[in-house]
Amino acid sequence: MMRIVTVLAMLLACCGGAPALDNGLARTPPMGWNSWNAFGLKMNEAMIRSTADAMVSSGLKAAGYEYIIVDAGWKAKSRDAAGRLRADAEKFPSGMKALADYVHSKGLKFGIYTDAGSEDCVSGAPGSRGFEELDAASFAEWGVDYVKEDWCNTTGMNAREAYTKMSQAILKTGRPMVFSICEWGDNRPWEWAAPVANLWRTTGDSKDCWDCGRETMNKPGGYPRGWVLILDAQPPLAAYAGPGDWNDPDLLQVGNSGLTTEESRAQFSLWAILAAPLIATNDLRSGDLQAMTPEIREILANRELIAVDQDSRGTEGTRVRVGGSGEVWMRPLADGSRAVVLFNPSQSLQTIRVRWTDIGGKQTDSLPLRDLWKHQDLGIVKQGYTAKVPAHGVVMIKAGPPIK
Ligand code: GLA
Repeated sequence: MMRIVTVLAMLLACCGGAPALDNGLARTPPMGWNSWNAFGLKMNEAMIRSTADAMVSSGLKAAGYEYIIVDAGWKAKSRDAAGRLRADAEKFPSGMKALADYVHSKGLKFGIYTDAGSEDCVSGAPGSRGFEELDAASFAEWGVDYVKEDWCNTTGMNAREAYTKMSQAILKTGRPMVFSICEWGDNRPWEWAAPVANLWRTTGDSKDCWDCGRETMNKPGGYPRGWVLILDAQPPLAAYAGPGDWNDPDLLQVGNSGLTTEESRAQFSLWAILAAPLIATNDLRSGDLQAMTPEIREILANRELIAVDQDSRGTEGTRVRVGGSGEVWMRPLADGSRAVVLFNPSQSLQTIRVRWTDIGGKQTDSLPLRDLWKHQDLGIVKQGYTAKVPAHGVVMIKAGPPIK
């Protein structure tokens, strides 16, 4: 008996302590677009459709982006006579099923937002509390593929119980839907959400800026804040991620007006190291409307970076060295190589070095290197690699596997 208990304990320890949500989805971090950061409540059916169009015409779908996620702002202020959620008739006159059909017709998938409490955060619309089965059934009927559930207006509720309820309601529909939970890391979801959800937010909201919010970050509710501050909180969580279960350090701010192109490139690189969901939020639309610049398109569509994020091993990377002239982040990949980011959070150009001993290698290793932003092989390099890294920027390389 003792032996069985020991073996069981070892098995559990090996796999994070709890079986993962068995819905077969999100074996790699979800990729897509979400309406919240750039549009807030000011979105509607027409702009979501043109975003789906742009996802295809910009080449982002071909690069791997899949989900078009309508965040807060789609719901009517009340349920219908049968208690069902319904769309805001002015903003979404054709209803959510028609929109999901349109998104599907583009070869994309459709995501929707709700809240675990009595009411959504800011839209004044009803939350899913007490209506989990009915709402999950509506989502399934409409053809939803991804559900994000927020955590506003939940006084007195237990997060694990509430999210388990929705998770089971979703499974009961029989329709595969990714389940993304958004309680901002308040209840340490990385410790319990693997059997419940495919991804869980690890922090409060990010803001469209580099590191704003430093002044309030240690005060209660010190969010939203710049992605650099969110990044700082991620290293202890790396061990909790894996295929089907991802830490979610929040949506990308890449291409939004508060970041420079260099800062956008840095966020994209580090989110790939973190095995984070790659959910863009910038205005993708082209034509007369505000267009995505070619530089931003190139960042979001960088297939070498996307391959790191989507690596089948599913091991989240972490910061392996900090101090001196900058930081070194590393993620081990399925082919035995390592993705490495030299990150310069300072305001001036820095020379940053990574030694192979920093990334789990031997000093004597000869590693083939490739620059993932320049798309260039750098030859076989011994001991380590040194690069000049622009202010608020990165150099990202793939190192290895070692040459025997
Ligand atoms: C919360 C969430 C955000 C977004 C908004 C919408 O702040 O954390 O991601 O969904 O609500 O109101």
